[in-house]
Amino acid sequence: MSGPLLLSIESSCDETGIALIQGGRCILSNVVASQVALHAPSGGIVPEVAARAHLRWIVPTLDEAWAGAGVTWDDIDGVAVTYGPGLAGSLLVGINFAKALAWVHDKPLIGVNHLEGHVYAAWLVDPGQDEATKPQPEFPLVALVVSGGHTFLAEMRDHLTYRLLGATVDDAAGEAFDKVGRLLGLGYPGGPAIQNAAEGAVRRNVAFPRAWMGDSYDFSFSGLKTAARRVIAEARAEEGLPADDPTATLSAEMTAELAWGFQESVVDVLASKAARAAKAIDASSIVLGGGVAANSVLRARLAHEAEALGLSLIVPRPGLCTDNGAMIGAAGARRFLAGERAGLDLDARPSLPLATR
Ligand code: KG4
Ligand code: ZN
Repeated sequence: MSGPLLLSIESSCDETGIALIQGGRCILSNVVASQVALHAPSGGIVPEVAARAHLRWIVPTLDEAWAGAGVTWDDIDGVAVTYGPGLAGSLLVGINFAKALAWVHDKPLIGVNHLEGHVYAAWLVDPGQDEATKPQPEFPLVALVVSGGHTFLAEMRDHLTYRLLGATVDDAAGEAFDKVGRLLGLGYPGGPAIQNAAEGAVRRNVAFPRAWMGDSYDFSFSGLKTAARRVIAEARAEEGLPADDPTATLSAEMTAELAWGFQESVVDVLASKAARAAKAIDASSIVLGGGVAANSVLRARLAHEAEALGLSLIVPRPGLCTDNGAMIGAAGARRFLAGERAGLDLDARPSLPLATR
């Protein structure tokens, strides 16, 4: 185990994450305080509530990250923190916390792009896992990042260099999962709930539209969401449910079929485009990241596509696909080794892009 030891902090959305990461790969500790239960009643994230929850949980999260990691401040080479994209109030909690720690302990501060973190999660190695045997992404690679706020495909020919191949022109895939989950009465977040419901589907013949966007690598999920709303309304009418009572939900059987059809449509478009892009740039590997990468059907379909193309697919375990501090330490180490340092004037960049075309 070698390379810089970073304390890394993530607070861009609704998870407070703090990790201790060695050499951009080895996880010494990785603690995530999730706000899912807090936001579930409103069916989505309330920014003010999220920022206050980060404030409440950031110190206990740090305490837990130190516990059992076997290192002290003397061992730390720097403090990495997400500075965008994300919710301004949430980002500011993590940034100010990181600045205070870096200043008090006289350590360098490193600003990390959240989306870069999702890509770099592919390099992480869990405690007890052998770093030498864990497969690493190989360049050139295609990165597919699919989260609640972002959906894009990028080409990487080396570390920290990105060429945007395509991105969503409207909703992110995770956002579509969350909205359709709500329409099906499955609660928040919709992604895992739709995946679970779809497992119970038997007929598996409901077809939802796919927006192929011509030959481009762009995505669009708003039409699918509208189609889902219409199909769900028709199914409700068929089952004699009132249109205006969300507590009256579809039968489990119908819910499963519709969840399956919706998931198939999203997975088909994501996996087909990632495979086509990998072939076009003659990639050696495909990296999948972001919360939706936790989806087992997407993982299986991409594994199949990668095998057919004879290249490797690197997908972090589900807990490292959703927001966490470890991924920020993985990307932060690369920036640290490249000599990048942030000043104490580091500010939140809610719309920070990863790459341009
Ligand atoms: O990356 P993430 O934790 O936060 C953002 O940066 O957005 O992604 C959260 C998104 C949510 O939309 C959630 O519904 C989705 O990831 N998600 C899933 C699954 N687990 C989480 N979507 C589909 N299937 C899953 N198993
Ligand atoms: Zn994320």
